[in-house]
Amino acid sequence: MELKDVLSEIHQEVAPLLGQGKVATYIPALANVDPMQFGMAITLNNGQQFGVGSYQTAFSIQSISKVFTYTLALRAYQDGLYKRVWREPSGNPFNSLVQLEYEAGIPRNPFINAGAIVVCDSLVSHFSSETKAFDKILSFIHECSGDSNITVDEVVAQSEMEHGYRNLALAGLMKSFGNFDNGIIEVLKTYFKHCSIVMNAQQLSRSMLYLANDGTDPISKKQLINSTQAKRINSLLLTCGHYDASGDFAFRVGLPGKSGVGGGIVAVVPGVMAIAVYSPALNESGNSLVGTKALELFTTKTGYSIF
Ligand code: DON
Repeated sequence: MELKDVLSEIHQEVAPLLGQGKVATYIPALANVDPMQFGMAITLNNGQQFGVGSYQTAFSIQSISKVFTYTLALRAYQDGLYKRVWREPSGNPFNSLVQLEYEAGIPRNPFINAGAIVVCDSLVSHFSSETKAFDKILSFIHECSGDSNITVDEVVAQSEMEHGYRNLALAGLMKSFGNFDNGIIEVLKTYFKHCSIVMNAQQLSRSMLYLANDGTDPISKKQLINSTQAKRINSLLLTCGHYDASGDFAFRVGLPGKSGVGGGIVAVVPGVMAIAVYSPALNESGNSLVGTKALELFTTKTGYSIF
């Protein structure tokens, strides 16, 4: 079956599920999003794109941004980064504090909030200020996506800053254990800004092609990261990309992937394509409910899982 027909079939099959799940409300600026939306996009290595539904509707990428920041931090610090953030699944919710306390301020992986905040701290140090770090993150996303119009929603970033008490607590705890170089507020401002970057499913699928191709973008031909680092990021996406539901996502979908509470999920098909879905209503673990189902249908119908 042609990929565009696969997408149409998935669109029809998930339609009855729309309305299940709940949009994220803990960030007030995200609470008003229409939960009935669904979009899905694919970009192949040769640049060919397919999309269905709201695949060109922009949304808050939230935790999907952690893939880009981790890539930049691995590039800057290489293996030195593993002293500050491990590579084990947490088995805990994305904003959990308890594990961080009994593991002495070293987050389990870069895709839970604590890990992404440490990664952000490392980027503020490496690029010498919060403004420069954010500019680098955004320009890296421009490079991966080939689209320099992508920008941040300052209202969402501000809303997160005003309500992000758990993230302040995570950062404070890590500071108390000595796993934090810069000021908590400046790092969190940068973290909330990168979470508030706005993209659509089409742009997201395009931007993940470097991970499907050993770190080199197959369209621009630029090497964004080396092949060992790309292998490591994909492995972490498979084991940690969906928090305490990472095992379930791997079981259902069988691809490296990353979700965000804005309702997006990206997934990588090594050597072939990257896929992004958007549907803002979330399951209990904070992952897009219909998005997960759509990706499960995709790998079941096409056989494009890594297993
Ligand atoms: O820190 C937060 O809570 C959000 N900016 C990001 C959380 C997120 O997307 C977790 N995802 N499922």
